[in-house]
Amino acid sequence: MTNHFDLIVIGAGPGGYVAAIRAAQLGKKVLCIEKRASLGGTCLNVGCIPSKALLDSSELYHDVKTKSSRHGILVGDVQLDLTALMKRKTQVVKGLTDGISYLFKKNGVSSVFGSAMITAPGKVTVTANKGANEGAAGEKSVNEYQAPAILLATGSEVATLPTLPLDHQFIVSSNEAISFPEVPKKLIVIGAGYIGLELGSVWNRLGSQVQVIEFLPRILPLTDLEIAGMVQKSLTKQGFEFHLGTKVVSAKVIGNQVEVKAESAEQGSGKAALTFWGDRVLVAVGRRPNSANLGLETIGVTIDAKSGKIPVNSKFETNVPGIYALGDLIAGPMLAHKASEEGIAFAEMLCGHAGHVSYDTIPSVIYLWPEVASVGLNEEEVKKSGVSYKIGKVPFSASGRARCMDESEGVVKIITNSATDRILGVHIFGPRASDMIAEAVTIMEYHGCAEDLARLTHAHPSLSESVGDAAWMAYTGKAIHF
Ligand code: FAD
Ligand code: NAI
Repeated sequence: MTNHFDLIVIGAGPGGYVAAIRAAQLGKKVLCIEKRASLGGTCLNVGCIPSKALLDSSELYHDVKTKSSRHGILVGDVQLDLTALMKRKTQVVKGLTDGISYLFKKNGVSSVFGSAMITAPGKVTVTANKGANEGAAGEKSVNEYQAPAILLATGSEVATLPTLPLDHQFIVSSNEAISFPEVPKKLIVIGAGYIGLELGSVWNRLGSQVQVIEFLPRILPLTDLEIAGMVQKSLTKQGFEFHLGTKVVSAKVIGNQVEVKAESAEQGSGKAALTFWGDRVLVAVGRRPNSANLGLETIGVTIDAKSGKIPVNSKFETNVPGIYALGDLIAGPMLAHKASEEGIAFAEMLCGHAGHVSYDTIPSVIYLWPEVASVGLNEEEVKKSGVSYKIGKVPFSASGRARCMDESEGVVKIITNSATDRILGVHIFGPRASDMIAEAVTIMEYHGCAEDLARLTHAHPSLSESVGDAAWMAYTGKAIHF
């Protein structure tokens, strides 16, 4: 393989691999370097995909056990084969990560497996993984590659707490909680964010008793407060136990159990200290950008000392010309689709085209059941902005399709500017909210109003009729079906 390229991408996650493919499609000679043994980054290997495979399997198990009889389907004694469930997850991951290798070949992207470090602007050394293609004999070979443009797409890693060091067996991160060898009887989750609630849901459905300890007085800090309240109620009904406004002080493994000590997050609250016992503790308190050990300090790339994120300009260029960054490594939500959008925009701008990411209309989805999906501002943010606003809100209990599905929990909430009718935010807590939010993204991207959304024809019977009905309510003050 030649060592000279037009673009070197470090990291093959949804930011890096998408940027590499798009740049190659636009005629660049691209090398992508990945230190994992497979392509796809956090998302495909240990993040979005394995967690969703587990969520889908556990949902099916839970539905067969608890919902099928309501449809008149009697299945007898339902058994869980955790080994088979995990095997299916691994197969899904493998199919998709192999798929990226296929896409690289198809688009002419070169790749090497090993740890990359920038030694000078335009120069990258790669220490090959043991046994990977660049160190076939098992020794750690080091190669140098050159390109006028280097893209940092190294993503993020698990953030930890000094009071809760991971031992990776009993006190674990999501990396291990997607592969527990057996269903923990008691799972303690630290952090009521995306990972805590998604993986908490998986194990709760499979039979764990889940206790969630959250520092803040609420769950899902970035979600619309009213929706977060509904989610908390729903999860509590599903068996979750929440301890909000609670700070973990220590954790100790004793035998095969973990003792977690916690206290009120509010100083001098007078609340008694708490002790929890669990078989496993999942620490899910956020992620940190992978900006260390890349040689960035040596070549003078600015790194934000507090967040570890790398500041970039509108072309994703760092303060050092020719070095770019995107995805979890830079500002904004740590989401796979955000990283991929940035990958496309970066590649297009690098190749002289216009590139753009609509940061105001990046949707977010939390894959619980019912699902939580949103785009735009939440009610608290709109209130804070001082804009006068209206709300259209309809429950799924008013939806014929939701009733047929026996899935009538949840609401669609649409927030509009009361003077202009323009949609400011859409929040859906309901069945398959992840798919319904696409319509809201489209209408907001085109600066649409509630009237535009209300007057679109929604197929009947479909869940998205509720989106139309909530739009009618925001536009006229009255829904048709509620
Ligand atoms: P990453 O996917 O982290 O990829 C970076 C890659 O760079 C990694 O493969 C890493 O090995 C490699 N790398 C790092 N350093 C080097 C180096 N020196 N040399 C070579 N390679 C290097 N987001 C969603 O949008 N939807 C979801 O449903 C979702 N679920 C998630 C579930 C879990 C459990 C987790 C942990 C995350 C989830 N996320 C989800 C977040 C999502 O995975 C990230 O936002 C996304 O992967 C970021 O993409 P990226 O390309 O910036 O980085
Ligand atoms: P998070 O930021 O979503 O949630 C972390 C939670 O931990 C917050 O509620 C926070 O208040 C709490 N917390 C922080 N310190 C604490 C402490 N000391 N004690 C108790 N609670 C504490 O982070 P999470 O869940 O680790 O996920 C990381 C990121 O990965 C997410 O922010 C998201 O960007 C991404 N992700 C996205 C998913 C999706 O799109 N469906 C799924 C999973 C992850």
